[in-house]
Amino acid sequence: MIRPDRVIALRGSQTVFQYKDLCAKVYSRTHSCADVLREAGNLAAAWEGGASVPGLIEVRQQNGRWMMVTEYIPGETLAQRIGSGKDRLSSCLRILVQAQRHLQKVPPDRFPSLTESLRREIAQTSLDPSIRSKLLSRLDGPEEGSCLCHRNLSPDNLLLPAGRNPVAVDWSRACRGNADADAAAVWILLETEYGQDAAQLYLDLYCGLSGRQERDILRWVPVMAASRIPGSVQRERERLKDLIRQSLKGWDEYGD
Ligand SMILES: Nc1ncnc2c1ncn2[C@@H]1O[C@H](COP(=O)(O)OP(=O)(O)O)[C@@H](O)[C@H]1O
Ligand SMILES: [Mg+2]
Repeated sequence: MIRPDRVIALRGSQTVFQYKDLCAKVYSRTHSCADVLREAGNLAAAWEGGASVPGLIEVRQQNGRWMMVTEYIPGETLAQRIGSGKDRLSSCLRILVQAQRHLQKVPPDRFPSLTESLRREIAQTSLDPSIRSKLLSRLDGPEEGSCLCHRNLSPDNLLLPAGRNPVAVDWSRACRGNADADAAAVWILLETEYGQDAAQLYLDLYCGLSGRQERDILRWVPVMAASRIPGSVQRERERLKDLIRQSLKGWDEYGD
């Protein structure tokens, strides 16, 4: 029986506990075993591919709830580092870009297809059918690119243990697909949590380090924003819909 020492994060659909040198992510009853195994499978594949992630210990059931137990990583998150104001925002975002670039080198073969996941997630949204079909048409054709996309690399999901590389958690959305799409996913997370200036700063740093073009990344914003709608809370959902509207307007102007 796992008896938690401390609650690390309390969400509507899961709670994360520290338990000695272990971390237990306990899911609500709405999460099926397959959902939890998918996240654990992604974490294990990332670990086996050489990514800096917590080691997976086990997936088990306790009191009717599924839980994933991993190694506990001591130290602050990048979000806490940003919030403390100790370092400049640009230094913090550089850590994020470097961690993302590391993850992009992990072999992606064992992750699900990004295009297929996006199609499924966009189909689940309650967006206007004409917008949905416009977004889905963006995904026509073969998978563009084959790269590990974490898809949820917010500052909250990057741990900064002392004397060790940053460690990425929260692997439920990870896929195999286009790296530009993953950069768009981070841009959206920063835009919604930290505002436009932080998102632009990230984009400048990312493009500088990767040699990618800003425009190629931003064209993924509407589909990546739509893919976050299922399961989002109302405030986030409204912001995502705004982003979709704005970026589709830009899309039309470019004749894409
Ligand atoms: N292995 C771990 N070691 C230490 N802290 C962790 C670990 N895994 C998660 N956390 C902390 O718990 C928080 C929530 O975990 P996460 O997997 O991101 O769940 P959620 O899907 O609810 O965001 C993270 O932001 C991080 O602060
Ligand atoms: Mg998280």
